[in-house]
Amino acid sequence: MPTSHRGNAPDNATLIGFTNLRHARTTRPMVMEKGKGIFLIDENGREYIEGTSSFYSAALGFSDQDLVEAAVRQMRQLPAYASGLYRTVPAALALGEKLASMAPLTNARVAFASTGSEANDFLIKFMLFRNAHRGEPQRVKVIARAGSYHGATIATAPLGGFPGTARAFNLPMDDVILVSQPDYVNGALAGEEEAGFTARMLSEIEQAIERAGPETVGAMILDPVSYSAGCVVPPAGYLSGLRALLDRHGILLFDDEVITGFCRTGSMFAAQTFSMRPHCMTLAKALSAAYFPISAIIMDNEFYDGLERGSDEEGIFSHAATYGGHPVGAAVALRMIEIIEERDLLGHVRHVGPRLQQHLASLTGHPMVFNTRGVGLGGAVQLYSLPDSVGVRGRAMQDAMMAEGLLLRVVRDTINFAPPLIITEPEVDELFARFTRALGAVERAEPRS
Ligand SMILES: Cc1ncc(COP(=O)(O)O)c(C=O)c1O
Repeated sequence: MPTSHRGNAPDNATLIGFTNLRHARTTRPMVMEKGKGIFLIDENGREYIEGTSSFYSAALGFSDQDLVEAAVRQMRQLPAYASGLYRTVPAALALGEKLASMAPLTNARVAFASTGSEANDFLIKFMLFRNAHRGEPQRVKVIARAGSYHGATIATAPLGGFPGTARAFNLPMDDVILVSQPDYVNGALAGEEEAGFTARMLSEIEQAIERAGPETVGAMILDPVSYSAGCVVPPAGYLSGLRALLDRHGILLFDDEVITGFCRTGSMFAAQTFSMRPHCMTLAKALSAAYFPISAIIMDNEFYDGLERGSDEEGIFSHAATYGGHPVGAAVALRMIEIIEERDLLGHVRHVGPRLQQHLASLTGHPMVFNTRGVGLGGAVQLYSLPDSVGVRGRAMQDAMMAEGLLLRVVRDTINFAPPLIITEPEVDELFARFTRALGAVERAEPRS
């Protein structure tokens, strides 16, 4: 028996997600103790670059004292209070106003939650409420794209079609309509031009709507650049063409900007980068640079009117969450938005993003590299998969990168890059120096055929 200083608690009592639980029982996880800028130090004193910002979230890295001070100030003044029953806190009101003014939506209204999953889950719940109260209770289905990720809850986990995140948990999926990820590189037919591919993707959505019965479909949800699907950058005309298509059938467009919101794609929101006109948006992660759990649902005027009408009929809008509009989260998010403006983070991303894109492009032609792609301060390197062994090279890269002190998110044989927005040009160079050494190590370790 291993000795334990934890009384009756087993070793590794904490369940850590996306691990093999049996393996995790006896394997100590990597434990991060400190952070400085884009770097993390683990409990053994080893230093790593977090090249995907810890689940695409830590937009200011791991030691921003301005944000810490904003949290401490709010903690001292009023550390806890729930918004609901005609009561709230100043920071929640100010943040709502700020986000409404920034969002590319008409007369936007804002609701708060704690996580990205919760924001998407609440938004779907709001849609069901709205539709029920406008005489369309049958409009319950949601269109989502295979490989996208919108959350871990019962309603959101099925919105992507990962076998592991939905089917393995036996979640209800009857009201989910899955369509293809618009992945031109991997999904184009032989000889198909990008414009033809885009037209085919849009037509697939239209056909799926017709098959399901347009009057039963409430919304389509999408992540504009799907990092979970391997950093799929949408082909020209896809996102800008969606609104008209969905409007023809009275279907809403939900823009999940949990990863892409706040400068990642080179605009404040990806909706602007790709000229998309959503009805509603969700935000999380970079909203507070992940220093405090907070997420937001932003709704256009027309959608919100539907909620108001329903609340008139019911007498009340029976929805709140204890931490939705938490004073500390709201204060941190307000400070984050000020920092974006004060430090011209968008300008910085537009300056340093091309450096990252150059490094990605320079890997094209490497014998192991099938494709590179990206937008703004993010992108991916897709390796050729070994025959009948998808993911094997990706796993080898994971280990090799770790040995080089580099943490990046690997999706099968695709490696995603989305460093903290504060990364400098020399740091981008260092990140790619480590990546290239890891790539070389994997190449040398493979048996020659
Ligand atoms: C696009 C997108 N939406 C939603 C979520 C869920 O956010 P959370 O993990 O905060 O619940 C994620 C998480 O990675 C995400 O990438």
